[in-house]
Amino acid sequence: MEKDILTLMDLAREDFEVLFERAIELKKRYKKGIADRPLAGKTLGLIFDKASTRTRISFEAAMVQLGGTPIFISAKDTQIARNEPVRDTARVLSRYLDGLAIRTYSQDWLEEFAEFTDIPVINALTDLFHPCQVLSDIMTVIEIKGDYKDIRIVWVGDGNNVAHSWINAAAVLDLNLVLACPDPYSPRKEVMKKALETGVGKISVTSNPVEAVKDADVIYTDVWASMGQESEQVKRERVFEAFQVNQALLKHAAKDVMVMHCLPAHRGEEITENVLEGPNSVVWDQAENKLHMHKAILDVLLKRNI
Ligand code: CP
Ligand code: NVA
Repeated sequence: MEKDILTLMDLAREDFEVLFERAIELKKRYKKGIADRPLAGKTLGLIFDKASTRTRISFEAAMVQLGGTPIFISAKDTQIARNEPVRDTARVLSRYLDGLAIRTYSQDWLEEFAEFTDIPVINALTDLFHPCQVLSDIMTVIEIKGDYKDIRIVWVGDGNNVAHSWINAAAVLDLNLVLACPDPYSPRKEVMKKALETGVGKISVTSNPVEAVKDADVIYTDVWASMGQESEQVKRERVFEAFQVNQALLKHAAKDVMVMHCLPAHRGEEITENVLEGPNSVVWDQAENKLHMHKAILDVLLKRNI
């Protein structure tokens, strides 16, 4: 495994398998009350420049449960906010910490940070990718469907950071992935191009959500306006109207379709209340698995130097 997880393209298929296996094992052991403390004495810094409930708290809890210590760093309270060069911050923090989880806007900023540290850097969401989210999501698919192979996974909505990480995962794990997005909100061309160049995965984009969800095993949606796009909210509500995951859309999917959402959800926008709370929804298990997957990621990456 590489030092960092900045995008899912950093992982080989075997790395995904190691993480799925470890996360499922750690989950089982945790449920049995077994206390694993492989990270005793280790410290994880969390630099968060955007809001977070699930990712931040599950990473912090994961670190504590594995015997280590998390240190939350609000970017605005550091010299980062006063324009200290990223490479200076990166070199200094790597002298104090054993790993860093970073949520920020710019993927380039994150990549420069990672280049200038010796410690593992984990992408906890950027404008472009949300790799750890999709790792725990695929773990949820494995738990419920038994495998991620030969499953029709359909993304409905904005071609955003989470969608981009699904595209990356598809290009490594050979997934069958369809993305239904309004034309102007399709996934970024450079992300698609890089994924398609691998020749792995069946990845397609359409603007017809009804066609896309036919026989879907998984339907995934996310907010129409991501963090940083709040000023576009009203405009996006109009454009995305036909892309709502509601009961009418679900009728076209497989009967046992899993409905997924990374949360937070906007009920009545990208998903209706009755679908989010309905029998096909797995969103709470999905949210729980972020804890177990983050434990696996920390265990694997932070133990590298022991
Ligand atoms: N799904 C997710 O990343 O949630 P948070 O924004 O609450 O971390
Ligand atoms: N696409 C969303 C995901 C939130 C977890 C955002 O970036 O705001």
